[in-house]
Amino acid sequence: MKSMLRFMTSGSVDDGKSTLIGRLLRDSGALPEDRIGDVTDLALIADGLEAEREQGITIDVAHLSFATSRRRFLLADAPGHEQYTRNMATGASNADAAIVLVDAFKGLLPQTRRHAYIARLLGIRTFCLAVNKMDLVGFDRDRFEAIAAELAAFLARIGGGALTAIPVSALHGDNVVERSTDTPWHEGPTLLDYLETVEVAPQGSHIRFRMPVQHVIRDGSFRAYAGTIAAGQVKPGDDVAILPSNRHARIERIVAMGGDLEVAEAPQSVALTFTDPIDCSRGDMIADPEHPPHIADQFEATLIWMGDAPLLPGRQYLLKIGTQTVPATVQKPKHKISVDTLEQLATKTLELNEIGTANVWTARPIVFESYEANRPLGGFILIDRLSGNTVAAGLIHFALYRAENVHAQALTVTAERRAALMGQAPKLLWFTGLSGAGKSTIANLVETKLHALGRHTFLMDGDNVRLGLNRDLGFTAADRVENIRRAGEAARLMTDAGLIVLAAFISPFRAERDMVRAMMGGGRFVEIFIDTPLEEAERRDAKGLYARARAGEIANFTGIASPYEPPERPEIRIDTLATSAGTAADLIVRYLEDRDAG
Ligand code: ADX
Repeated sequence: MKSMLRFMTSGSVDDGKSTLIGRLLRDSGALPEDRIGDVTDLALIADGLEAEREQGITIDVAHLSFATSRRRFLLADAPGHEQYTRNMATGASNADAAIVLVDAFKGLLPQTRRHAYIARLLGIRTFCLAVNKMDLVGFDRDRFEAIAAELAAFLARIGGGALTAIPVSALHGDNVVERSTDTPWHEGPTLLDYLETVEVAPQGSHIRFRMPVQHVIRDGSFRAYAGTIAAGQVKPGDDVAILPSNRHARIERIVAMGGDLEVAEAPQSVALTFTDPIDCSRGDMIADPEHPPHIADQFEATLIWMGDAPLLPGRQYLLKIGTQTVPATVQKPKHKISVDTLEQLATKTLELNEIGTANVWTARPIVFESYEANRPLGGFILIDRLSGNTVAAGLIHFALYRAENVHAQALTVTAERRAALMGQAPKLLWFTGLSGAGKSTIANLVETKLHALGRHTFLMDGDNVRLGLNRDLGFTAADRVENIRRAGEAARLMTDAGLIVLAAFISPFRAERDMVRAMMGGGRFVEIFIDTPLEEAERRDAKGLYARARAGEIANFTGIASPYEPPERPEIRIDTLATSAGTAADLIVRYLEDRDAG
C-alpha cells in the first residue's frame, strides 16, 4: 500500500500559495484532465476547495486528498491572514509536515515566523521552505540561501526540526514538479520529489495502547466499545485498564468493518469486546494497564486563544479532549509569548491570536498525556458555555503534583445528616441585580422572616464579603469572576453545614451564576432576580455611587461602564417597580415553604 503524507501549507496572503498548490496538482497529474486550465487558473483550483465548519466557529481549513504513483497525500490548506491563527492550528494538529512559503523578494515576514512557530508548537518537526517567485530575483542563489539560513536559525530557537529549502517559481513551474534550468546550483529535490520521499515519524504507533471510547454498541447482552485507537496496538487476550475508574478487563475480540482482527493499531477505528462484563462507557479510556496515561484535574498547558473576547481567568469553559468533555477554568496566565521575539511577557489575560502558558483546572479528573508524547491525548479545545464557540486550543504539558496528591475525603457526618439535625432543607438563595436594585434590603427581610420561622440561616452580602475574604479583588471582569467563584464556594460550604444561605451579589455574568448553580446541584440553588431598571436604580442612588460613576470617579461601574447580563430563567423574578420589599420577601419565603412542603 502507498504511504500517506499529511501536510499543510502556510504562507502570507500574497506569497502565491494557491498558485503553488494548483501548479503542484496540475504538473504532477494529480488533477483530472478536465480541471486543467491555463496557468492563471491555478489559484482557482486551490481556492475552490471546500471549507469546513467546526464547533460553531468557521475554520476555513480546506482538506484535499490526491495521489501520485508513489504516495497518497492529504493537504490541509489554511488561509494566511493573522486572524486565521485558529485555522493554522487546526491544520497543523493533523499534519506531519509543513510547507512554509516565502516570497523571495520580501523574505521572512513576522507572519512566516508566526506560522512556523504554531506549526512547531502543534508538533510538526518536518519543514519544507519553498522560496517562491525566484524568477523575480533573477534566481539569485545568495538571496535564497540567506532566507533559508534565517528560517533555520529561527527553527533552532523554537525546538528544532528537519528543514529542506527549495527555490521555486509557482507561476512558471520551476522546481515544483519539473527541475528548473535556472537553478543549476540547487542540489536538493523538487517540491514533488520532496513530498514523495520525505520521511516522517509515524504518529502514535510506537507508544502504549490508548483508545478513547466513542460509543458503546449494545445488542442484547452483547457489548462492544467503539473508538479510534489514539496510540499503540491491541490484540485479543491483552489486559487493559479502563480509566478513570481503573477497572481491569481482558480483550476478547477486535471487531472491524471487514471482520474480526488479530491486531489493530493507531489510527484504526475498531470496536473491542471484553471477556467479562465490565462497566465502560462513552468518554472512558481503554489503555495499557502497566503504563496508563495521567489522570488529574490540574495541569499546565499552552493555550492559543481564538476567541474574540479575551480569556477570563476563573471563568468556567467546557474543555473537550478526545471523547471527554468537562467544565474547566483557566488560571491567570504565567506568561504569553511574543512570537516575533520569542520573549515571555507578563500578562493577565490572552487576547485573540495570543499564545501563553497557564494552569488549567477541570471539574472532574480527565485522562490525558502530554501533547509532546501523544497529540490526540494531549490536545484540547475550550468552548464558551453560552455561545458554544471554540475559544482556545490547548496543549497539555504536565499534570500538577497537587492534583495527584489531594483527594476528596469521605466524611462520616454528611451534609444530609447535618441538615436532618437542623430539620431543614439547605438552600442557596442567590440574589442578583444591579447595584442599588434592592438585593441587600430584600435579602435582609427574607432572612428576618426565616429566622422568625426557626430556620438556620446566613446572609452573605457582596459589600461585606469584599471587606474580608475578597478584600484583594476589584471590579475588573476577571476580579468579579473570582469574587463569585469564592462566594459560591463559601456558600456551598455553608449549605453543606446545613444552612439556608442568602447571597446578595451583583453577579453580573450569567456564566458565573450558572457555575454556582451547577456547583450546588440537586435543586439547592434558587436564583432570585431583583429586577430594577438602571434608570430607577440610578434615580434612587442610595449610596451615591451612580453620581460618582457618571462623574468618572468609579471605573467599571456596573450598568455604566461594565455590563449586566440579566438571568434568562430565574426561579423568582421581583419587579421592584411593582412590588414592595416586604411583599417581595413574603413571596420568596412562601416559595421556599411551598417547595419544601411539596
Ligand atoms: S460583583 O459584580 O462582583 O458581584 P459585588 O456585589 O461583590 O459585585 O459588589 C458590588 C458592590 O460594590 C456595589 O453594591 C457597590 O457598593 C460597590 N462597588 C464599588 N465599585 C463598584 C463598581 N465598579 N461596580 C459595581 N459595584 C461597585
